[in-house]
Amino acid sequence: MLIKQLININKDHVNQIIEAIALVADMKIKLTKSEKKYVDLVLQDASKQIDAKFWDYDEKQEFFKGLKSNQPVSIKAVVGEYQGALQLTIKEIDLINDTEVDIRSLTPTSDWEIESMKKGLQYFYDKVQRPHLKTLLDKMIFATDHYEKFCTYPAARRVHHNFYHGLLQHVLEVLKYAYTVATTKKLSERQMERLIVMAFLHDWAKIWEYKQLPETGFTEEGSMLGHIFLGAHATLNTIEEIEGFDNDDKLIILNGILGHHGKLEFGSPVLPKTVEAQILHHADIMSGDVESILSFMKEEEGKEDSFTGKLWNMGTEFYKKG
Ligand SMILES: [Fe+2]
Ligand SMILES: [Fe+2]
Repeated sequence: MLIKQLININKDHVNQIIEAIALVADMKIKLTKSEKKYVDLVLQDASKQIDAKFWDYDEKQEFFKGLKSNQPVSIKAVVGEYQGALQLTIKEIDLINDTEVDIRSLTPTSDWEIESMKKGLQYFYDKVQRPHLKTLLDKMIFATDHYEKFCTYPAARRVHHNFYHGLLQHVLEVLKYAYTVATTKKLSERQMERLIVMAFLHDWAKIWEYKQLPETGFTEEGSMLGHIFLGAHATLNTIEEIEGFDNDDKLIILNGILGHHGKLEFGSPVLPKTVEAQILHHADIMSGDVESILSFMKEEEGKEDSFTGKLWNMGTEFYKKG
């Protein structure tokens, strides 16, 4: 049986053999309890990621030593279930030539249209009127070679917006949610402009924190410093290049970036101390949570149960009927 996309594998296939083409997103050599080496893999295509094991490492040692991450492979595997999640036991695995398959077609991509997302960015940029704030956005996003990265990078490694254009889609969602709250509560123009700027910049440093897709994972800078510090640092450096930058705007925008995770235990070194920063934080959570629920439900579509499995970041299962 040939399964073209990983998303089509479901519980009905347990104990059956499937064939698929996928990218090796991650691979580790591990030891079983009886000290036998096996290969622990994460495979992915454009539709989803799935865990897989190859139990007989010694038998195919040379192959795995030469296997790089993001290498496309064809597999034959038995579908199994482990702690409620599907898992593949690989029986055969072979390399596929990069020329035979477009790696991007095996990497998840936002289903929002790229040009309309770019127009959306422009729409919010145009709402910022004060020149020093416009210059800050120009220097950090619009008039630099960061723009391409900003529009293509993922916004996370797993769970939400972990796909091509993920950062762009997430920032646009945060801008829309934040703007809706700010207009509903009639924030001043000054507050609105600061909120837009901090929404644009809050996750900006993910272009430094993550590797460029189809590679996944953190850069050294990302692991050592994280996007909150990197983003605030880059923003402060840029602000210092702009003559006469308003001091309140500087403090409020930096606090918004540093505080956007909302709690010290979630990695923010300070709490959000303005209404703009609190709105940004809630818009950020809303964007991440809603996306994680919807993409998880999509992954679990083929299953018959009324509920999804437990979505770990939300701590609960979701009702799928209706
Ligand atoms: Fe963040
Ligand atoms: Fe964010």
